[in-house]
Amino acid sequence: MPSTKEQLSEKKSKRVRMLKGLILSGGKGSRLRPFTYTSAKQLVPIANKPVLFYTIEQLVECGITDIAIVVGDTADQIRAAVGDGSAFGASVEYIQQDAPLGIAHAVKIARDYLGETPFVLYLGDNFLLGGVKTFVDSFRENGANCQILLHPVKNPQAFGIAEFVDGRVTRIVEKPVSPPSNLAVIGVYMFDQHVFEAVERIKPSARGELEITDTIQYFIDKGLDVQAEVLDRYWIDTGKMDDILEANRMVLQSLAPSNRGQVDERTRVYEPVILEKGASVVNSVLRGPLVIGEKTEIIDSYVGPFTTIDHHCRLKGVRVEGSIILENTSIEDIHWPIDRSLIGRHVTLRGGQAVGGSYSLTLGDHSEIGMPEG
Ligand code: G1P
Repeated sequence: MPSTKEQLSEKKSKRVRMLKGLILSGGKGSRLRPFTYTSAKQLVPIANKPVLFYTIEQLVECGITDIAIVVGDTADQIRAAVGDGSAFGASVEYIQQDAPLGIAHAVKIARDYLGETPFVLYLGDNFLLGGVKTFVDSFRENGANCQILLHPVKNPQAFGIAEFVDGRVTRIVEKPVSPPSNLAVIGVYMFDQHVFEAVERIKPSARGELEITDTIQYFIDKGLDVQAEVLDRYWIDTGKMDDILEANRMVLQSLAPSNRGQVDERTRVYEPVILEKGASVVNSVLRGPLVIGEKTEIIDSYVGPFTTIDHHCRLKGVRVEGSIILENTSIEDIHWPIDRSLIGRHVTLRGGQAVGGSYSLTLGDHSEIGMPEG
């Protein structure tokens, strides 16, 4: 409950608030190397669509069309992928963050863009199934100064964690050694203009960043109205390869089958399967849920559940499942099944007809290959 008269009158006057969006799409993505040497982590696709696109679409679904994206080293790629936002029905502007100085620092440099308008801050590597509309609608109407979303996690040491007393949030701690609960503050936050006072007052943490958790703590300490809701849907911070594969699995389960490609009569298809325009499948088995991208060729292969193959790939004589293969990659005559793998763009992986023999490999830094055991 708001504690002062001023807050009460604000609450009345802001029954339904107009909101802007602020998406963070900087960061080095060190846990997703080697992909992130050449590509922004927010552009790694889930079911053939970059994580960042889901974020933008979800804001637009909330009626938020004025969006700024805070970018870092990978600014050019993000701009090339998103453009002016018109493809999403939004107007997108870019704000350059020269060094990764923290989420709250990104808010600080967005002050001119945001002005006095309350906003939704969305971390571009957070993935939420089913969008955020219900939560954003409640923030529009409840007049809170800040609203956060919580989700139980198994490893609370890796997140911002909320502590509750009598049903109210009393403390938010960043990556606590002794977590007060298992409720993580996820990367979708709603703030009003009090946030600018907060980000000016807080000090950098031990990791040298202006923390968003300290920003929320400032709201709590000032007696401002901080609302917290526990998320009732699937959420993941897609920082690591396993998380990307898991998110891919979740999205594929929710997609309806469609066929805009070609399948020959020797191929067996077990739905749900999505074939994009110009995809062609010859003498193969497709066991959904899976997606095969535009102009990708599948020949004499087995593509199993929870697999996403991007556009312009070629698979011949391969067994693959539970994996993501990015665009323009070619894989031929690999005798062992490929499982739980994330394979980058423009990769060539070629076995041979003979069983045994040796591999000839060109692998970049941080590449990982798991050979079968036994
Ligand atoms: C950031 C925030 C953390 C939050 C998490 C959600 O963590 O600092 O409070 O719980 O995002 O994904 P980081 O990505 O910096 O580890």
